[in-house]
Amino acid sequence: MTTDVLQIELRKAERSRIQEVDFNNLPFGKHFSDHMFVADFIDGEWTSQMIVPFDNFTLSPALSSLHYGQSIFEGMKAFKNEAGEVRLFRPYENFKRMNESAKRMCMATLTEDVFMGGLEALLRVDADWVPSSPESSLYVRPYMFATDTYLGVAPSKTYRFCIFTCPVGAYYSKPPKLKIETEYIRSAPGGVGFAKCAGNYAGSMYPTLLAQQQGYDQLIWTDAREHKYIEESGTMNIMFVIDGKLVTPATSDSILKGVTRDSLLQIARSMGIEVEERLVSIDEVLTGIESGRLTEAFGAGTAVGASPYALIGYNGKDYMLPEYGPTDSVAVKLRDQMNAIRTGQVEDTFGWVH
Ligand code: COI
Repeated sequence: MTTDVLQIELRKAERSRIQEVDFNNLPFGKHFSDHMFVADFIDGEWTSQMIVPFDNFTLSPALSSLHYGQSIFEGMKAFKNEAGEVRLFRPYENFKRMNESAKRMCMATLTEDVFMGGLEALLRVDADWVPSSPESSLYVRPYMFATDTYLGVAPSKTYRFCIFTCPVGAYYSKPPKLKIETEYIRSAPGGVGFAKCAGNYAGSMYPTLLAQQQGYDQLIWTDAREHKYIEESGTMNIMFVIDGKLVTPATSDSILKGVTRDSLLQIARSMGIEVEERLVSIDEVLTGIESGRLTEAFGAGTAVGASPYALIGYNGKDYMLPEYGPTDSVAVKLRDQMNAIRTGQVEDTFGWVH
């Protein structure tokens, strides 16, 4: 069937795959909903917007993004409230950040019509895929890549923008062990660390593998100049509770401006928790754990929400973080409040839900 809805052509899957998915067991990023949104940037404009069955692309071996990495992405989540309505969490923030990434990677920018129109239309078509059980959501992956078939090193003139979705459950099954990385770097001043570009994730894999071979789960990235200050952890922002205050590295051109990071900070302020965005040194973290002044360390990202860490390793020594019950951890309080806003259990006084 082909219909024309707001200039988006809709080609529906002949049969839904939803029955094949066990919604009680949703590993991250493995199951994909029935449809995807696709638009192409050709001759300076976004054309041929379509919702089509989730399927492979046919790509040229000379596709420029495969060689030179003009490839960016976003991640956001959709939830259901008790009435079964689909609620997207802060999608305009992802739209803005995607265009900031696009600008840095010298790619075409997206119009709000294409980004938001595609997103809304896709979620309408695949609304049944939004899980309603606690801890579950529909992870939404918008991304864009260069499509010129050309081997010269130059910004592509054509791009493809696509959005697909995956029903997901909890990201980590237990609190991860983190190692402070002091040899490899994720990003540097003047670099692309603030952009959500594919290469940032590729470059992190080898150092992460080395840490995993030593028994850790993820890395804590430090600054490129001195390896003295904490920047991010794994694929997300990092937060600490020190002397009862919520402390996190201030964003910069080497740190991603996380939407979850910003949401947790705003929620903390609204709960009367003091927030500090500033330089956080390795020394402050380690002496803080030893003295008991640092009581929590956790990752903040779309995929995980707020995820408490078990321990931090540095130069061969492990520093154990205190264990918490479900009610006395700041991370869990902030995460629960964010989830309550997302699922409509409390009023969204921030105006975040779309
Ligand atoms: C996020 O949580 O924000 C991410 O980007 C995680 C993704 C790379 C799996």
